[in-house]
Amino acid sequence: MRALVTGGAGFLGSHLCDALLGDGYHVIAVDNLLTGRHDNIAHLASDPRFEFLEADVCASFDCGSVDYVYHFASPASPVDYMIHGVETLQVGSIGTFNALECARRHRAKFFLASTSECYGDPAVHPQKETYWGNVNPIGPRSVYDEAKRFSEAATMAYLRYHKVDTHIVRIFNTYGPRMQVNDGRVIPNFMKQALSGEDLTVFGDGKQTRSFCYVADEIDGILRLARSDEHDPTNIGNPVEFTMLECAEKVLEITGSKSKIRFEPLPQDDPKQRRPDITKARKLLGWEPKVDLLTGLRLSLDYFIPAVAKNAAVARAR
Ligand SMILES: NC(=O)c1ccc[n+]([C@@H]2O[C@H](COP(=O)([O-])OP(=O)(O)OC[C@H]3O[C@@H](n4cnc5c(N)ncnc54)[C@H](O)[C@@H]3O)[C@@H](O)[C@H]2O)c1
Repeated sequence: MRALVTGGAGFLGSHLCDALLGDGYHVIAVDNLLTGRHDNIAHLASDPRFEFLEADVCASFDCGSVDYVYHFASPASPVDYMIHGVETLQVGSIGTFNALECARRHRAKFFLASTSECYGDPAVHPQKETYWGNVNPIGPRSVYDEAKRFSEAATMAYLRYHKVDTHIVRIFNTYGPRMQVNDGRVIPNFMKQALSGEDLTVFGDGKQTRSFCYVADEIDGILRLARSDEHDPTNIGNPVEFTMLECAEKVLEITGSKSKIRFEPLPQDDPKQRRPDITKARKLLGWEPKVDLLTGLRLSLDYFIPAVAKNAAVARAR
């Protein structure tokens, strides 16, 4: 069995490659390294069942016959997709069509990495898959939110019109080893600041909430969904909610840092609350996250300590 992972050199894509190799797949990772890194897949270089193709999925690419296409390519952090706004729209539209066409051509199954951002700044809490969302279609985050909503529509169209066996996961904030230190997402940001002795920046009054899923739990849910017969979007995320302030305090606790917390203005369209309703994943997949935030942060610390030091050394050398 051969699986194609677009975005395979990214944070989630590289963990997915590991898991698929563990399941006995031959894995082809396609990535243009826009936000991903060779380091994330360096440990796979000597595995004869792993291939890496440096290519843009918005251009035509050929990786031979495959049985499963996992489409994970897309900038994912607000810092990345605001810098690469046009590329984000392109990979969510042209890139998604190319990945879907690849699945159709090879009669392969297709799996889309979608996002909780489809719910926008939700008026319903927690978010069930049946909620259609509250998205600003022209705001600064729209390049990502609308690209993903379009990707979902395209995926459903290939299911309806071309009978491709498709699956869609709505991923909620996921964290763990291999995240970029500078990608601006909450956990890497707090880790970098705490480990460098800088103030931890909390936006607004810090009472806005997020729920954080450890990467091993997320990948477990993704693989269960990929093996299921479910075609409609399914939330996979950790439903335990924390305020930004609580999260900052937990990072200070596990790092033992003496850094202080500094408050800054809330960015435009920043969601105030985000928590998945995972009733569907529980019933359908028997899936439940197992790693609590404190444990996940401890598991991530071994990665972040050298990653933050390397990042600082690179910054000094510039
Ligand atoms: N990590 C999360 O919390 C989260 C939450 C919701 C959704 N997601 C989705 O999961 C997927 C992976 O996210 P991530 O956190 O690993 O981000 P990431 O930035 O680490 O990985 C994305 C990868 O896609 C690659 N890429 C981007 N455009 C490409 C293109 N045109 N052609 C080929 N490769 C391209 C990047 O180089 C990178 O390696 C994304 O689709 C993202 O939207 C992630």
